[in-house]
Amino acid sequence: MTARFNYKTKEALLEHAEEAGVRLPYSDDLSVLARRVRIGDTDIFTKNSMTIHPMEGFDSLPDGSPSELTMRRIRRFASGGAGLIWCEACVVTEEARTSAGQLWIHDGNLDAFKKMAEEAHELSGGAPVILQLTHSGRVSRPDNTPHPVIAYHNPMMNEKFEISPDYPVVTDEYLDSLPEKFGKAAKLAKEAGFDGADVKCCHKYLFSELLSAYTRPGRYGGSFENRTRLFRDSMKAVSQWTSKDFVMASRFGPSDCMPYPWGFGTDRGDCTKIDWTEPDRLYNIMYESGVRLVDMTLGTPYYNPHVNRPYDNGGYEPPEDRLAGVARLIEAAAHMKQAVPGITLIGTGYSYLRRFAPHVGAGAILEGKCDAVGFGRMSFAYPDFAKDVLEGRELDDRKVCLTCSKCTALMRRMSCTGCPIRDREPYLEIYKKVFEEN
Ligand SMILES: Cc1cc2nc3c(=O)[nH]c(=O)nc-3n(C[C@H](O)[C@H](O)[C@H](O)COP(=O)(O)O)c2cc1C
Repeated sequence: MTARFNYKTKEALLEHAEEAGVRLPYSDDLSVLARRVRIGDTDIFTKNSMTIHPMEGFDSLPDGSPSELTMRRIRRFASGGAGLIWCEACVVTEEARTSAGQLWIHDGNLDAFKKMAEEAHELSGGAPVILQLTHSGRVSRPDNTPHPVIAYHNPMMNEKFEISPDYPVVTDEYLDSLPEKFGKAAKLAKEAGFDGADVKCCHKYLFSELLSAYTRPGRYGGSFENRTRLFRDSMKAVSQWTSKDFVMASRFGPSDCMPYPWGFGTDRGDCTKIDWTEPDRLYNIMYESGVRLVDMTLGTPYYNPHVNRPYDNGGYEPPEDRLAGVARLIEAAAHMKQAVPGITLIGTGYSYLRRFAPHVGAGAILEGKCDAVGFGRMSFAYPDFAKDVLEGRELDDRKVCLTCSKCTALMRRMSCTGCPIRDREPYLEIYKKVFEEN
């Protein structure tokens, strides 16, 4: 068993990292976190260098509009002082929803999304607000029962999702129909007042699963060109709507850290290591296609959540030191920043570090490893963490995320989710109800 978070001092944290064979950047001076960041060559600027990662709450209304609970989350994020708010996964077509509680943007609910963007702008004092557009692929459960849309048969993912080997893979014709839907959703996001649309390609949802469709026949499988076709065509469709004040963004995972031939961007001998050959090629194409903002990530929450979001308590004991997981995310961002400097890059992996998170984030920015640092679980637990940093306070140990995975546990039970520990009203009651009733 590797060490859990028990670092009382900076020295203890850095010493343990060194023992684990990794180095964490660190800065005592946090002033860089107050710095505004220009997004690529657009006229959009963050308000500071701390951002909110997309964090799905599984609580939309049946028609895909944000509910009161969704709006509560957005308001908490927007009031907390972060420099950019990246709104959660929102599908472009109904059958792609992870549940009947996932956001879905369409002509019929544009006003609700307008309200969402407007309130986020107002409460944040003008921070950019990005909407994440996605297709949930294998995780699709539009009516709360599984209707997987799979790119190919991946035995590891099939086992997780209880998909039999004769289940039909998605047709080329269906995939052909999707770029137009992403284009349309981006147009709606722009009309609604968002500052950008994210073409999501990570975590083994449909676009990211296709990246490793080596075994799929036809136009969407086999070669690099085929495996990246849907992502490339969708970026092209979204790029028609980009302008100096509307950015094409992407939540992008350069590697899902699954073994070849089921993983993208992984070393064929050791899937915990990234082989950058194809990710670099794709990342350059993303730039050429017009992407100017990326929130990076690694792994998939469905197979290797310890890679995706280092935790103290989760479904299993991580097979590596937890700080090594944090360092993998930080160093992957550093590689990406160097590979394509023209893309403004948000780093990931900081919530695990509790009150040291801003210091490691500031260190990473000062060392040129990323342009801004994002916070996911921390923003559920402690939405005004950025305000505290900007006002010169150290993060409060009583408010930080404990990486206990209760938010994920709720999500896995198809419940709406948040932090039952730090945001008790309403999530403790929800947590008790879900786990007492089942
Ligand atoms: C409950 C929950 C919901 C999430 N929802 C999304 C999402 O909608 N889109 C996305 O790209 N990532 C999502 N993520 C991943 C986070 O954005 C983030 O990458 C991850 O939690 C690691 O960052 P952290 O260590 O700051 O939490 C989610 C994670 C959790 C735990």
